[in-house]
Amino acid sequence: DDELLRMRRACREAARILREAGALVKPGLTTDEIDAFVHEASIKAGGYPSPLNYRGFPKSVCTSVNEVICHGIPDDRPLRDGDIVNIDVTIFLDGVHGDTNATFFVGNVEDDSKQLVRVTHECLMKGIEAVKPGRPIYDIGRNIEQHAHAHGYSVVRAYCGHGIGETFHTSLQIPHYFDVRSNTKMEKGMTFTIEPMIAMGSHEELTWDDEWTAVTKDLKRTAQFEHTIVVTDDGAEILTKE
Ligand code: MF3
Ligand code: CO
Ligand code: CO
Repeated sequence: DDELLRMRRACREAARILREAGALVKPGLTTDEIDAFVHEASIKAGGYPSPLNYRGFPKSVCTSVNEVICHGIPDDRPLRDGDIVNIDVTIFLDGVHGDTNATFFVGNVEDDSKQLVRVTHECLMKGIEAVKPGRPIYDIGRNIEQHAHAHGYSVVRAYCGHGIGETFHTSLQIPHYFDVRSNTKMEKGMTFTIEPMIAMGSHEELTWDDEWTAVTKDLKRTAQFEHTIVVTDDGAEILTKE
């Protein structure tokens, strides 16, 4: 119960910082400026930005533009009109992590990208709807995959949601596609993330030689949304909300 109270607080702060960072997004802003904001905000909240030095990650937030699937490293290049950018905020506060991300529009975005972003958010919510004690983890991915495929999109398989709490990434994996091996039953009190990455083209990915930046092989765009949730008596409570 105490851990859950602390997680509610960490997750609420992560959600606020994500909203505030997203409000800065406009053509000309650099992802380094997003990084500086998230770093300062995390410290001001009394926490620490979990990504910084996590397995050698060099910055305080992940910023993933267009064909970057996830783990984009902030740099000094300005965002351009028509881009989409995912901001992934994780804060370590009072001994626990809160992890949430969203994809934002940079200026005027083409309709096909807007549709991708809308459907990706719907995929996250459909995944959350599958959460219930006694149901297998694979029900989450099954819901997500079904919705993505109905819109002609693919689901990235190389990166999954994860158990979270006092540890950033526990061994519990949450695939966003149907994987019969993920037959662990959900239990009340489990805390994990759901964070589907949805691609306009193929889900095949590769990693830049910076060893972090994951991009689609076909360079088509992807979007992502993430919440940290807790399994309740009859469903899920989204923790990363204000
Ligand atoms: N926040 C990411 C996630 O959702 C993890 C980022 S790890 C980092 O799991 F090192 F790249 F920051
Ligand atoms: Co996560
Ligand atoms: Co995250």
